[in-house]
Formats: sequence, structure tokens, C-alpha cells
Amino acid sequence: MTETAWTRLAAAPQPMLQELFVAEPDRVERLSLGEAGVHFDFAKTHLSDDTLAAFLGLAEETGLAARRDALFAGATVNPTEGRAAGHTAERGQGAPESVAHAQGLHTRMRALIDAIEAEAFGPVRHVLHIGIGGSALGPKLLIDALGRDAGRYDTAIVSNVDGVALEEAFARFDPHATLIAIASKTFTTTETMLNAASALQWLEEAGVDDPYGRVVALTAAPDKAIAWGVDETRILPFAESVGGRYSLWSSIGFPAALALGWDAFESLLEGAAAMDRHFRFAPLAANAPVLAAFVDRYYANIRGAETRAVFAYDERLRLLPDYLQQLEMESNGKGVGLDGRPVTRATAPITWGGVGTDAQHAVFQLLHQGTHLVPVEFVAAVEPGDRLDPEHHRQLLLNSFGQGAALMAGRDAEDPHRFYPGDRPSTTILLDRLDPATLGALIAFYEHRTFANAALLGINPFDQFGVELGKAMAKQLDHQSASDFDASTAALLRRAFGDETE
Ligand code: F6P
Repeated sequence: MTETAWTRLAAAPQPMLQELFVAEPDRVERLSLGEAGVHFDFAKTHLSDDTLAAFLGLAEETGLAARRDALFAGATVNPTEGRAAGHTAERGQGAPESVAHAQGLHTRMRALIDAIEAEAFGPVRHVLHIGIGGSALGPKLLIDALGRDAGRYDTAIVSNVDGVALEEAFARFDPHATLIAIASKTFTTTETMLNAASALQWLEEAGVDDPYGRVVALTAAPDKAIAWGVDETRILPFAESVGGRYSLWSSIGFPAALALGWDAFESLLEGAAAMDRHFRFAPLAANAPVLAAFVDRYYANIRGAETRAVFAYDERLRLLPDYLQQLEMESNGKGVGLDGRPVTRATAPITWGGVGTDAQHAVFQLLHQGTHLVPVEFVAAVEPGDRLDPEHHRQLLLNSFGQGAALMAGRDAEDPHRFYPGDRPSTTILLDRLDPATLGALIAFYEHRTFANAALLGINPFDQFGVELGKAMAKQLDHQSASDFDASTAALLRRAFGDETE
């Protein structure tokens, strides 16, 4: 049945972007929309009246609206793990019992933050947050984007098991004024547990009284945190149904709530809730996450684009591409459908990107003249983040708009080296200003876009079994002898560890 819409999509005419602007004079109005302080412009993509109609047909055939409603109703939308997906409940949108549960846990988080601010655990100037993947990328993005002027706590987010990362934080921080937050949904992740043990040892060696008293745990496995030694009163739980890469709204956002203040954290949740309501109630043809997913599917499945690139024309959003890599690729980098059968078309493209204008002087050559088709996304804010000469921000925005226009227009030239083919697509996302509410809305937009893509593809965006084999292999390498492995791996083990490996 699904083939009907895909067939229609494949057969639809593929006019060039500039032809579309001529044929559809109202395309800017129809393909632009604003929600929660975020403006989306999809006009410079190849979405046409024909393809949009076909995608709406695909949404119908794949039951996108029903899957969305199931998400908000708290149904089991993650069938391989037998779970609902509770991230929207964290911002008050979802099944009433999940919302009430999340609100109770937020109250607990706020009380702990109040206690820290009141120095109930002694002086705290530094926060050392230890976590990896979804337990690090979200808070790191929030603090980097919004924390520049906050001046409340100096925070380090350490994820890598490479001791160099932790040593950098130790060098910056006073152990007698440091609070350690161990962030792990499972409280079993090797990197996090090793980093946490070393951080505790650092406190002990510095002669800190009651080092365990300086530790807070952010986890969906409170029993494991208690067994590790964290006092129950300093454990901030969150629901098992909140996926790691969807968890910044839960207690995983603790360092951000501490560094930015509770009001800012609440605004972040409210901004996300506004985007939730838009995704839930706006018609599909005027629904930002849905239109973005149509664009993603068009380039991945109809035009064969293997990547998509996101450029933040805002220094404060420089970590956005990193965050999106996990969100999009861990969610939708799948090879089988919900029914367990191999998918017949490309799933998540490779998400990559950087910051503008820097990237213009590095990778944009390929975007303008290279042989790959790369749909580009520009993210910027109308209001400047700096207080310097307004010319800085003006140039920033002019460059972002200029790149989108140039990618589309191309430029003719007799000299083939100076020829720009053009017709290269881009989407622009323009925030009125970057603040907690608009950032919340922006991140929620990306979450729902990821979900909408999964619905169109018939895959589960909420599991991540693909990350397990490599971790298991590292454990085997730790416990078995080199000769048990392939010759290449055995040789590497011997080179690094010598006889220890036999
Ligand atoms: O390796 C993948 C992963 O499971 C991510 O999905 C998750 O965000 C990360 O590891 C960290 O997991 P945890 O929060 O349980 O330590």
C-alpha cells in the first residue's frame, strides 16, 4: 500500500528550484511558517505542489498522524523495548499520569537546586557533570548556548573515557568547591562509571570531607546509584520511558538548570511544549516538523542524498550539529522496519555540519561545486548575541542568507572551473532571538522531525541496539587473550599492551 505514494513521488516532475519559484508564486508564503519564536523557510527546497501532495499521501498511508497521537497518548511507540516515549511528558504534554510523574520529579530537582544554592552541601562554585551520549550532549548544548552571561556556576561536562578530558576539569576546579553530577540513565555505562570513580578519588585525595556527600546522581536506575554510594536524597530520577537522546528535559538537564537558573529551565520546557502543541495540532501541510521530514525524505529517497548538513550561523549554537548527530543518527540510523524486515530505502542521512561563517572557508567549496547533493540547513537568530558593533551580526546574517541564495542561483561561466551549477537546496531556520524558550522550541522541533521521519519510514526511532556490539567487543578484548580475535585486532592489542594480552 505504501508503494502508491512512493511511486507517485518517484514519478513526480522534478523542476529546478528557480522554476518552482516561477510556477508557484506563493511558495514563500506556503512554505514558510512561524511557531514559538522560530521561523522556518522551506521555500528553497524542491518541495513542490506535486511532491507535497504525494508526501501528504505517504503520511496518510504510513499513519503518521496516528503514530504522533500514540506518542502523546503514552502508548508503546518503542515496541522493541516495550516502552512509551516520555520526553514530551517532561514538558507537560502527554498522558496525564506521565505528566504528573515528570512534574513531581521536576519539583524534586528544583528543591535540590535550591538546597545547593543555599550551600546545604557546602560551598559549590564548580559543577563537574559526568555523562556520555544523551547524558552529556543536551546539557552541554544548553549551557554553551545560554550560559555565557549566567555567571552562576562554572560547569564542565566530561564524557570521554580518555583521562585527558577529566584531567582538564581537575586542573580548572577546586575540589573543595566542586559538586559532581553523575548522569547516566542506566548507571552502568563504562565510561561514566570509570570517570565517576576517578572524580570521587580526586575529591578523596584532596582531603574533601565526605566526598560522597558532594555527589548527585541523575538516573533512571536509582537503585544502582544507591548501590554505588550516592545518598538517596541526592538522586534525581527520571522515567525509564525517557530515551537518552531525548532526556535533556528531565533531571539530565540538572547542570543546565543549575547553571542557567530554574526560571530559564522552565522557559526551555515551555518553549518545547509550544512546539509539541504545534506538532500535535497543526495540519500536516503547515506543520514544521512534518514539512522538514518531507524535505529529508525527498532528498534521501528521491534524490539519493546521503548526507544533510546543518550550519549554525550563531556561535552560541556551535554544538547543535553534535547534538543533532546523536538525535538523528542514533534514532533513525536503522536497517529494519517496525516489522523486523529489512527496509527497502535509505533511512537517516549522515548529519554533519559546523558553524557559519567559519564553515564557508572550509567545506562550502564542496557544497557549491562538488559532486554530492547536500541539502543544507542554516540556523540563525535575528537578534544579535553580542554587544559589539552591529556590523558583526549584520554580516553574519547576510552571509547565511547569501549562501542559501547562491546555492540555489548558481552562476554561469565560460570557464568550467568558475561555473556554479546552482539548484542546490537549503532550509533556513531563523529564531527571533536565542533564549531558553526558542531553544526549547528548536530542539523539540528536531525531535519531532526525527519522529516524523521514522513514521514515514516505518522504523522505530527510540531504540539503539546498534551501539551495543562495539561495547561488548571492547569488554571481550578486556577479558580474553589476543589470540581469540582476528589477526589485525590481535596485532593491535599486542602492540599496545604487549604480553598482558596473552
Ligand atoms: O551508547 C549509546 C547510549 O546508550 C546512548 O543512547 C545514551 O545516551 C548513552 O549511551 C549513555 O547512556 P547512559 O545514560 O545510560 O549512561
